[in-house]
Amino acid sequence: MPSSVFTRVAGIALVLSVTATAIVTAAPADVAMIKSRQDKLRDMGSALKQIDDELKRRSPDWDNVIQPNVQILHDRSPFLQKWFPKGSGPEAGAKTYALPAIWQKGDDFAKHARGMIAEAAKLEQVFAKKDASELRAQVIALGKTCKGCHDDYRSPDYEKDAEQ
Ligand code: HEC
Repeated sequence: MPSSVFTRVAGIALVLSVTATAIVTAAPADVAMIKSRQDKLRDMGSALKQIDDELKRRSPDWDNVIQPNVQILHDRSPFLQKWFPKGSGPEAGAKTYALPAIWQKGDDFAKHARGMIAEAAKLEQVFAKKDASELRAQVIALGKTCKGCHDDYRSPDYEKDAEQ
């Protein structure tokens, strides 16, 4: 019967187009989000390390090395939570160490993010004093908030992969 064949073909076409639309609209944005947040987080990790390394020198370069890295941490931390929209977890299909718990325990994840924002703001205040030992203590305090979140919300595979 021609009409039922038509219905079936149209139905298949509809299914195909819905699937194609889903792929086009959802995945690339989430994949791009994952890559860009990993880049930004890497910059933050490297900023923290550069400050720490510089503070070990006899006369740290406050203006050219420490200041821009303090700025990176201070400016980026308020946005961290926005880098984890729903759909940008492992289901997006890109390599990510973000654990599903981020979206299951959103309030706790937000608490970790706020803790980091507070310590990053303090980092900038302490920087203004240009006192190496005070700043080092604040680097450690900030680093603890990074680790606190990573312990619960970043896959331990990250450390394994980083070692290789
Ligand atoms: C609220 C939670 C949270 C806080 C706070 C946090 N992170 Fe992360 N971080 C994550 C998650 C989740 C990932 C995994 C992201 C992914 O793979 O998509 C991650 C990944 C990273 C990575 C690996 C990026 C890569 O793939 O190469 C670095 C480096 C990093 N974070 C540094 C930091 C530093 C430094 C701080 C503190 C200044 C910090 N993070 C604070 C949750 C957090």
